[in-house]
Amino acid sequence: MDLDLDGPGAGRAVGRAGSGATAAQPPPAAEPTSPTAMRATAARFATGVVVLTVGGEQVHGMTANALSSVSLEPPLVLCCVARTAVMHQAITAAGHFAFSVLAADQEDRARYFANKARPLGPAQFDTVDWRPGPHTGAPLLAGSLAWMECELTDAHLAGDHSVFIGRVLGCGRGTGLSGLLFFEGTYREVVPLAG
Ligand SMILES: Cc1cc2nc3c(=O)[nH]c(=O)nc-3n(C[C@H](O)[C@H](O)[C@H](O)COP(=O)(O)O)c2cc1C
Repeated sequence: MDLDLDGPGAGRAVGRAGSGATAAQPPPAAEPTSPTAMRATAARFATGVVVLTVGGEQVHGMTANALSSVSLEPPLVLCCVARTAVMHQAITAAGHFAFSVLAADQEDRARYFANKARPLGPAQFDTVDWRPGPHTGAPLLAGSLAWMECELTDAHLAGDHSVFIGRVLGCGRGTGLSGLLFFEGTYREVVPLAG
């Protein structure tokens, strides 16, 4: 069985010619897996948005959405960071990272920590309300929905990124209810479906 991904019956399972299926559909146009196609296709996977942070001498913050929970026991998460990012060097050197899950009203934070023009070092947090995480000292952003602090346990080179695995040392939740989303290259807000 193939999936008709972009025709009128999008998402409907269709059979191969000769398999006894009634309506043979042309296969979806194959798009070369260029970085542009990769980015455009991956953009259809809606994600939350976090600000990854590192504390201490390597203090740094960076907007990210390539983040996932990995294991409950032991508690593990992963994040994927471009090898060219300042954050890559910061996590590698510090051996820890934290992240703050952004609330729907924190789009300005997401834009700020994705902007290469922001200052480096402690100065990048001068205009941001934050407190140091008790386990790592990494900045945790005020007003965020949730946060975790992690000790780096594994790093895997994967193409132009590294996958960093962190063991969760501590976590917490704020009082906000609505999350910031990133979908199709734009920021959105979590809104429950009617009904
Ligand atoms: C919504 C959003 C999500 C992003 N997610 C990631 C990510 O998961 N990993 C990554 O390496 N860069 C990601 N970026 C890009 C970085 O935030 C951006 O390149 C940043 O300027 C890098 O900072 P640095 O080099 O100072 O560490 C994302 C950007 C945006 C706007």
